[in-house]
Amino acid sequence: MAEPIRIVVTGAAGQIAYSLLYMIARGEVFGKDQPLILHLLDIPQAVGVLEGVVMELADCALPLLREVIPTTDPVVAFKDVSAAFLVGAMPRRDGMERKDLLSANVKIFKAQGQALDKYAKKDVKVLVVGNPANTNALICSHYAPSIPKENFTAMTRLDQNRATAQIAAKLSVPIDAVKNVIIWGNHSSTQFPDPKHATVVVNGQSKSVWDAINDKDFLQGKFVEIVQKRGAAVIAARKLSSAMSAAKAACDHMHDWYNGTKPGEYVSMGVVSDGSYGAPKDVIFSFPVEIVNKQWKIVQGLTVDEFGKSKLDITGKELLEEKSEAMAVCSAE
Ligand code: NAI
Repeated sequence: MAEPIRIVVTGAAGQIAYSLLYMIARGEVFGKDQPLILHLLDIPQAVGVLEGVVMELADCALPLLREVIPTTDPVVAFKDVSAAFLVGAMPRRDGMERKDLLSANVKIFKAQGQALDKYAKKDVKVLVVGNPANTNALICSHYAPSIPKENFTAMTRLDQNRATAQIAAKLSVPIDAVKNVIIWGNHSSTQFPDPKHATVVVNGQSKSVWDAINDKDFLQGKFVEIVQKRGAAVIAARKLSSAMSAAKAACDHMHDWYNGTKPGEYVSMGVVSDGSYGAPKDVIFSFPVEIVNKQWKIVQGLTVDEFGKSKLDITGKELLEEKSEAMAVCSAE
């Protein structure tokens, strides 16, 4: 068997981590032959809950799980890790200004970026889940200059999974019949779920989702809105934000980053923008990517119509605004 690899999960006492830790420790991300040492980071107020999580992980009796290290110290948390799931973040509380939220998160992701820079493996793969995920990933990367920018990503896979599920339900096909739905931009309500290049297999034949649904008003209207507002709908129903589905999406994201995408298929990830498709450069923008040998590449040459361009523009502007607000906090520090 391989040597164990070290994986850190932050926000380890929270709701997403409660599902995520089990999925990782079962081998669903790094493989059924890859032993793991899990580093669990949370804040001092959460230590009691964290102890309970450690007990439950032990009680799961999982053969791949060699050690669990709960900690409130980023030095311990990030030491020699090969992959980082940055789930913990400052949540928005009632009456909290957007600026205060951003500023609290800049502090968290600055400290974690610095710790990654100093203590993690140089090829560490970082997935930021905690919101605002795209801008948190940007800040984290900014404070970890010795790690390639390509190694910092933000999660839009939950949005992709939600969009795929909506299309599969609409066409009454199994979920894996639908491929290549794209999420562009920010993981926020300005994201653009784009079904233009998606395909579906019906009766053994692959065809365009656009043609199969054949309802432009739905695909440019209700569908986009459902996906953009799905997180809010789950909160309204559960009184808590998406957790099981967010954990599954985090596993899918990291799994595909490690194992690659199939030929002709792509997935959406928030990655550092090179300006492709007119997106602003040097923000973490969600693009369709293909992955080979653990390296992602933005899929090129897809057509984006005027409607799509206007949507990309809105979400790109929001990311630029978030970036300049976050950078203002950084320089004021
Ligand atoms: P939660 O509130 O249940 O758990 C968050 C945990 O993070 C808590 O245990 C808290 O103590 C911890 N934490 C706070 N600051 C920390 C720090 N500096 N270092 C380490 N741990 C810290 O929240 P939940 O439901 O698990 O969600 C976590 C984050 O994921 C939220 O920001 C949420 O908005 C975001 N999210 C992102 C999604 C995406 O698609 N990108 C989807 C769903 C949620």
